Amino acid sequence: MKESFQKRKVLMVCLGNICRSPLAEGVMIKLLKDKNLLDRFEVDSAGTIGAHMGELPDHRSRKVAVNNGFELTHLARQFTRKDFEIFDDILVMDDSNYDDVISLAKKPEHEKKVKRIVEFDQRSDAPQQVMDPYYGNINHFEAIYDQLQHCIYGYLVQNLG
Ligand code: 4NP
Repeated sequence: MKESFQKRKVLMVCLGNICRSPLAEGVMIKLLKDKNLLDRFEVDSAGTIGAHMGELPDHRSRKVAVNNGFELTHLARQFTRKDFEIFDDILVMDDSNYDDVISLAKKPEHEKKVKRIVEFDQRSDAPQQVMDPYYGNINHFEAIYDQLQHCIYGYLVQNLG
Protein backbone atom coordinates (compact mmCIF):
# COMPACT_ATOMS: atom_id res chain seq x y z
CA MET A 1 0.00 0.00 0.00
CA LYS A 2 1.28 3.44 -0.87
CA GLU A 3 2.24 5.48 2.19
CA SER A 4 0.09 8.59 2.52
CA PHE A 5 1.21 11.76 4.26
CA GLN A 6 0.06 15.29 4.61
CA LYS A 7 1.95 17.92 2.69
CA ARG A 8 3.57 20.57 4.86
CA LYS A 9 2.27 23.95 3.71
CA VAL A 10 4.76 26.80 3.68
CA LEU A 11 4.02 30.46 2.96
CA MET A 12 6.86 32.93 2.23
CA VAL A 13 6.01 36.52 3.17
CA CYS A 14 7.63 39.88 2.38
CA LEU A 15 6.29 43.41 1.88
CA GLY A 16 5.32 43.60 -1.80
CA ASN A 17 5.41 39.91 -2.83
CA ILE A 18 7.39 40.81 -5.94
CA CYS A 19 11.08 40.61 -4.89
CA ARG A 20 12.00 38.38 -1.92
CA SER A 21 9.07 36.08 -1.17
CA PRO A 22 8.42 34.87 -4.76
CA LEU A 23 12.17 34.23 -5.07
CA ALA A 24 12.09 32.28 -1.77
CA GLU A 25 9.11 30.30 -3.10
CA GLY A 26 11.02 29.54 -6.31
CA VAL A 27 14.21 28.57 -4.48
CA MET A 28 12.31 26.14 -2.28
CA ILE A 29 10.45 24.56 -5.21
CA LYS A 30 13.74 24.21 -7.14
CA LEU A 31 15.48 22.55 -4.16
CA LEU A 32 12.53 20.20 -3.64
CA LYS A 33 12.41 19.29 -7.35
CA ASP A 34 16.16 18.61 -7.40
CA LYS A 35 15.80 16.28 -4.38
CA ASN A 36 12.61 14.65 -5.71
CA LEU A 37 10.69 15.87 -2.65
CA LEU A 38 8.11 18.15 -4.23
CA ASP A 39 5.27 15.84 -3.13
CA ARG A 40 6.11 16.54 0.54
CA PHE A 41 5.48 20.30 0.52
CA GLU A 42 3.14 22.94 -0.80
CA VAL A 43 4.78 26.36 -1.23
CA ASP A 44 3.20 29.78 -1.82
CA SER A 45 4.07 33.42 -1.17
CA ALA A 46 2.29 36.64 -0.23
CA GLY A 47 2.96 40.28 0.65
CA THR A 48 1.83 42.32 3.63
CA ILE A 49 0.71 45.12 1.26
CA GLY A 50 -1.56 44.80 -1.76
CA ALA A 51 0.14 47.44 -3.92
CA HIS A 52 1.45 44.92 -6.47
CA MET A 53 -1.43 42.45 -6.53
CA GLY A 54 -1.61 40.39 -9.72
CA GLU A 55 1.89 41.37 -10.86
CA LEU A 56 4.64 38.96 -11.87
CA PRO A 57 7.79 39.13 -9.70
CA ASP A 58 10.20 42.04 -10.19
CA HIS A 59 12.31 41.59 -13.34
CA ARG A 60 15.48 41.33 -11.20
CA SER A 61 14.11 38.40 -9.16
CA ARG A 62 13.05 36.73 -12.40
CA LYS A 63 16.48 37.27 -13.93
CA VAL A 64 18.24 35.72 -10.91
CA ALA A 65 15.87 32.75 -11.12
CA VAL A 66 16.48 32.20 -14.85
CA ASN A 67 20.26 32.54 -14.32
CA ASN A 68 19.96 29.68 -11.82
CA GLY A 69 17.77 27.40 -13.90
CA PHE A 70 14.17 28.10 -12.88
CA GLU A 71 11.32 30.49 -13.64
CA LEU A 72 9.09 32.58 -11.39
CA THR A 73 5.44 32.65 -12.48
CA HIS A 74 3.78 33.57 -9.17
CA LEU A 75 1.32 36.48 -9.29
CA ALA A 76 1.51 38.79 -6.28
CA ARG A 77 -1.19 38.58 -3.65
CA GLN A 78 -1.74 40.07 -0.22
CA PHE A 79 -1.47 38.06 3.00
CA THR A 80 -4.83 37.57 4.72
CA ARG A 81 -5.92 36.14 8.08
CA LYS A 82 -7.17 33.03 6.22
CA ASP A 83 -3.51 32.14 5.57
CA PHE A 84 -3.10 31.40 9.28
CA GLU A 85 -5.62 28.55 8.89
CA ILE A 86 -4.15 27.19 5.64
CA PHE A 87 -0.38 27.19 6.25
CA ASP A 88 1.78 25.29 8.74
CA ASP A 89 4.74 27.67 8.53
CA ILE A 90 4.69 31.36 7.65
CA LEU A 91 8.28 32.40 6.91
CA VAL A 92 8.87 36.16 6.93
CA MET A 93 11.87 37.97 5.48
CA ASP A 94 12.45 40.86 7.92
CA ASP A 95 11.42 42.30 11.29
CA SER A 96 8.84 44.60 9.81
CA ASN A 97 7.14 41.69 7.98
CA TYR A 98 7.19 39.82 11.29
CA ASP A 99 5.45 42.66 13.14
CA ASP A 100 2.88 43.16 10.35
CA VAL A 101 1.93 39.46 10.20
CA ILE A 102 1.91 38.99 13.99
CA SER A 103 -0.37 42.02 14.33
CA LEU A 104 -3.01 40.13 12.30
CA ALA A 105 -2.82 36.94 14.41
CA LYS A 106 -5.72 36.41 16.79
CA LYS A 107 -4.67 33.10 18.36
CA PRO A 108 -1.40 31.95 19.98
CA GLU A 109 -1.30 28.92 17.64
CA HIS A 110 -1.35 31.29 14.67
CA GLU A 111 1.43 33.43 16.14
CA LYS A 112 3.52 30.29 16.58
CA LYS A 113 3.40 29.61 12.84
CA VAL A 114 5.19 32.89 12.07
CA LYS A 115 8.97 32.51 11.89
CA ARG A 116 11.82 34.58 10.56
CA ILE A 117 13.30 32.64 7.64
CA VAL A 118 16.82 33.61 8.79
CA GLU A 119 16.44 31.43 11.89
CA PHE A 120 17.07 28.42 9.60
CA ASP A 121 20.33 29.78 8.18
CA GLN A 122 22.91 27.55 9.87
CA ARG A 123 25.96 29.71 9.13
CA SER A 124 27.61 31.21 12.22
CA ASP A 125 27.68 34.67 10.61
CA ALA A 126 24.16 34.47 9.17
CA PRO A 127 22.48 37.86 8.66
CA GLN A 128 19.49 38.59 10.95
CA GLN A 129 17.10 39.61 8.15
CA VAL A 130 16.56 39.22 4.42
CA MET A 131 16.86 42.91 3.56
CA ASP A 132 14.50 44.62 1.13
CA PRO A 133 16.35 44.82 -2.23
CA TYR A 134 13.70 46.92 -4.02
CA TYR A 135 15.90 50.04 -4.28
CA GLY A 136 19.05 47.99 -4.85
CA ASN A 137 20.65 46.52 -7.96
CA ILE A 138 20.98 43.03 -9.43
CA ASN A 139 23.89 42.28 -7.07
CA HIS A 140 21.56 42.71 -4.09
CA PHE A 141 19.15 40.23 -5.67
CA GLU A 142 21.99 37.74 -6.29
CA ALA A 143 23.03 38.09 -2.62
CA ILE A 144 19.45 37.48 -1.50
CA TYR A 145 19.23 34.41 -3.70
CA ASP A 146 22.37 33.07 -2.03
CA GLN A 147 21.06 33.88 1.47
CA LEU A 148 17.67 32.27 0.72
CA GLN A 149 19.37 29.07 -0.40
CA HIS A 150 21.08 28.80 3.00
CA CYS A 151 17.84 29.54 4.88
CA ILE A 152 15.72 27.11 2.89
CA TYR A 153 18.29 24.34 2.95
CA GLY A 154 18.33 24.68 6.77
CA TYR A 155 14.55 24.71 6.90
CA LEU A 156 14.37 21.48 4.89
CA VAL A 157 17.02 19.76 7.01
CA GLN A 158 14.91 20.59 10.08
CA ASN A 159 11.58 19.61 8.57
CA LEU A 160 12.27 16.45 6.59
CA GLY A 161 12.50 14.28 9.71
P1 4NP B 1 9.56 42.78 -1.56
O1 4NP B 1 10.19 44.18 -2.10
O2 4NP B 1 8.88 43.10 -0.25
O3 4NP B 1 10.73 41.91 -1.39
O4 4NP B 1 8.60 42.32 -2.63
C1 4NP B 1 9.43 45.33 -2.25
C2 4NP B 1 8.55 45.45 -3.28
C3 4NP B 1 7.82 46.62 -3.43
C4 4NP B 1 8.01 47.67 -2.56
C5 4NP B 1 8.90 47.54 -1.50
C6 4NP B 1 9.62 46.38 -1.35
N1 4NP B 1 7.27 48.89 -2.72
O5 4NP B 1 7.51 49.84 -1.96
O6 4NP B 1 6.41 48.96 -3.61
